[in-house]
Amino acid sequence: MRLWGQFRTKISGRTKVCCVIGDPIEHTLSPVIHNAAFEELNLDFVYLAFRVRREELRDAIAGAKSLDIHGLNVTMPHKTAVMEHLDEIDSTSRSIGAVNTILNAGGRLVGYITDGVGAINALKENGVGLEGKKMLLLGAGGAGKAIAFNLAQEVEELKILNRTTQKAKELAEVLRKKFNKKVSGNSLSSELLKNELEEADILVNATSVGMHPDVHQSLVDPSWLRPDLCVMDLIYNPLETKLAKDAKSMGAKVVSGIEMLVYQGAASFEIWTNHPAPVKVMKQAVLNKLSELGTLS
Ligand code: ATR
Repeated sequence: MRLWGQFRTKISGRTKVCCVIGDPIEHTLSPVIHNAAFEELNLDFVYLAFRVRREELRDAIAGAKSLDIHGLNVTMPHKTAVMEHLDEIDSTSRSIGAVNTILNAGGRLVGYITDGVGAINALKENGVGLEGKKMLLLGAGGAGKAIAFNLAQEVEELKILNRTTQKAKELAEVLRKKFNKKVSGNSLSSELLKNELEEADILVNATSVGMHPDVHQSLVDPSWLRPDLCVMDLIYNPLETKLAKDAKSMGAKVVSGIEMLVYQGAASFEIWTNHPAPVKVMKQAVLNKLSELGTLS
């Protein structure tokens, strides 16, 4: 096994720099995931994290350009605000109104969003086919919206439930028009959730319910879950949410938030390097880090 120290000594004047910007940023797992991948493929790249405050975003992006930073991930609170500072934005990002990945293409900064692709690949690579499936999505916030865009194109039917009903309805209308698919939006009441779940093949939780420190919360009563259901929870802290635990104990297939985290990172990696991402290595690196931090449940 190569050691991080050896990797660091390889940094030279030719090394390409990638980074994540956000605020707060000190708990980000992205450097662990990407540096493991660069090292595995012996690519002359390094990945760092920078805290960028809201009022410094413009300067930070101009600085990234001047310093010829090759690629950036963008996280809270800059995913939407960063768009006005870029030279080009891909069409999915534009529709969603958020960017999480930037490629510096010869001095032109191009924005992408990889959350949706990450969710789709996490499902597919875990053996969950999407064609002909009925999907129930809980949440129409930033993450919910991003994955709804990609998932609506793949599944037979998408139902979106959100605490703020209007957001679910508006998102559903945009997707219906854009992709000419069966998409509906409604309120996240227990009654609706229970009824809609009876019809669903795949359930995705894109709300923050169940996230640390509220680890004993779940929107879904365990008795509503079935063995022939697939459940994906986007939350990875805790590594196994109450929803995921309940689904597992009911015999349902579970795809964890770590999968989504790794696959959206993998999609960014491929945009920057044009190499297939070493997904297994990326996943192992993040699991090792979480175990080191004592976060594994
Ligand atoms: P993210 O970028 O992680 O998606 P977000 O945009 O703040 O974060 O979205 C959080 C999601 O969790 C939203 O769908 C939110 O519902 P609202 O749109 O009504 O705010 C949902 N959410 C948060 N707390 C919730 C709760 N207690 N019950 C149900 N949904 C909740």
